[in-house]
Amino acid sequence: MKLFVEPASRPLSGTVTIPGDKSIGHRALLFSLLSATPVRVRGLGDGADNGRSAKAITALGARITRDGDAWVITGTGLDGMTAPAGDIDCGNSGTTIRLLCGLLAGQRFAATLFGDESLNKRPMRRVIEPLAQMGATIVGAANDTPPLRIGPATGRLTAIEYALPMASAQVKTAILLAGLYADGATIVIEPGPSRDHSERMLAYLGAPLVTQARRTTIDTRGWNRRLAGTDFEVPSDPSSAAFLVAAALVAGAEEVRLPNVCTNPTRTGFLDAIAAMGGIVELSNPRTAGPEPVADLVVRGRAHPLRSTQISGDLAVRSIDELPILAVLAARAHGTTIVRNAEELRVKESDRIATTCTMLRAFGIKAEERPDGFTVEGRPERPLARAEVHADGDHRIAMAAAVAGLVADGPTVVDDADNVATSYPGFAAALSQLGASIVAR
Ligand code: S3P
Repeated sequence: MKLFVEPASRPLSGTVTIPGDKSIGHRALLFSLLSATPVRVRGLGDGADNGRSAKAITALGARITRDGDAWVITGTGLDGMTAPAGDIDCGNSGTTIRLLCGLLAGQRFAATLFGDESLNKRPMRRVIEPLAQMGATIVGAANDTPPLRIGPATGRLTAIEYALPMASAQVKTAILLAGLYADGATIVIEPGPSRDHSERMLAYLGAPLVTQARRTTIDTRGWNRRLAGTDFEVPSDPSSAAFLVAAALVAGAEEVRLPNVCTNPTRTGFLDAIAAMGGIVELSNPRTAGPEPVADLVVRGRAHPLRSTQISGDLAVRSIDELPILAVLAARAHGTTIVRNAEELRVKESDRIATTCTMLRAFGIKAEERPDGFTVEGRPERPLARAEVHADGDHRIAMAAAVAGLVADGPTVVDDADNVATSYPGFAAALSQLGASIVAR
C-alpha cells in the first residue's frame, strides 16, 4: 500500500477520535486472560497488533465476545490456561511476543511464538535472559530471535531481583508476569521511565504489586492468586495522536481536537519536546479513565514557529515511539535538533535511527545518524522537497513521512506503508477528515 499526500492548501480543522492505545490494549487483552471474572473492555483499538494479542489469548483458552461497544473477555484465571493447538503468530507485534514470553514462562505446557519478517529479526535475548534466571526454558533461533519455544515449566518459577540493562516496558512486564508464577518477591529495577501501564493495570486487577522509584515488586507470599477485573476503558493512543498533532502544528489548524487521549507521563514526552520547541498543544478536560489519566488534545493557530531542541535522557525514553514524528517537527524548526540516548530506536520495527534520517533526507533535509540518535538541521523558511519515500515496512516512518508531505513543494508518495494498519488503520482517513489531501491505495 502507498500513501499519496498533497501539500496542505489550508489549515486543518475538526475533531477526530483516535483509536484505543495500542500498549494499553495489549495489556487489557493479555491480563484479562488471567482474570477470574469476565472483563468488559471498551475502546480497544482496531490495529492489527492488538488483533494478534486477541488471537493469542483465544488460543490459550480465553473467549472474546461483543456486547454493544465493548468486548467481553472471559479469561481462564491464573492457572487455567490451556495449551495452544498450534504455533502462535505474533505478526509485527513486539509487545505481543515479549509479554507472552512472561505469561507462558510458568505454564505446564509448551508453546511456540513467531512473527513476521521484521519481528523475527528483533532481539529476544532481553526477555530470555531474565526468564531463564527464573527457571523458564525458552529456546530461540540463531541469535535468540523468534521463533521461540517456551516451556513447559516443571514447577513454580524462582523470584529474582533484576536490573534491566535498558528502559523497556516489554521486558519489565514479561518479568512481572512471570513473577505471578514465582514464589516470593520478584523485583525489577529500571534505568529509565519506561511506560508503566502494566503496573497500573496489574494493581487495578488485584496483583500484589508495589512500585517505588523505578523499582517494582510482585510479592506472591500470602497472596490468594486471584486477579479479577470488571470494566476497563482503553483511552485513545497518544502515539497515534502525535502524528495528527504534528500535522496541525506544521500545516496550521483552525482547531484540531483529539478527545480522550492517554496523558500518562511515561507517554507524553513528545508533548514536552513540542513545548520546548515552542509549539502549543492544549490539554483540555483532564480526567481519569480507570488507572490512566486522559485529556483532550487541542491545537490551534497558523503553522507554529518552532525552534530546535535537544532530546536525551528520560525525555528520550518518554518519547521513544514519537522520535520519528518529532524529527519531522525538527525539520520545520529553526536550528539543529539533537536526539541522544535513543539507541533503542535501532531495534524497533525498523532501525529507526537509519530510517528516520533516510526519510528526512528524501525531503531535502540534512539529517545525520549518531550511534544513539540523530541530528536534524531545520528548514522552516521554505517548503520541504516533494519526496518518494520507502517506509521500510515501519508504520511510524510511513505516518511521519505523510505528515512531512503536507509541507512539501509538491505531491509525496510513501511506499511500503501497509504496516500503518498495525497501529492506526484509519490514519489516512483521519488526516482527510481534518482537511488534508491524502489517499491510501
Ligand atoms: C511498548 C514498549 C516500548 C515501545 C513499544 C510498545 C509496550 O518498547 O517502543 O512500541 O507496549 O510495552 P520497549 O519495551 O522495547 O521499550
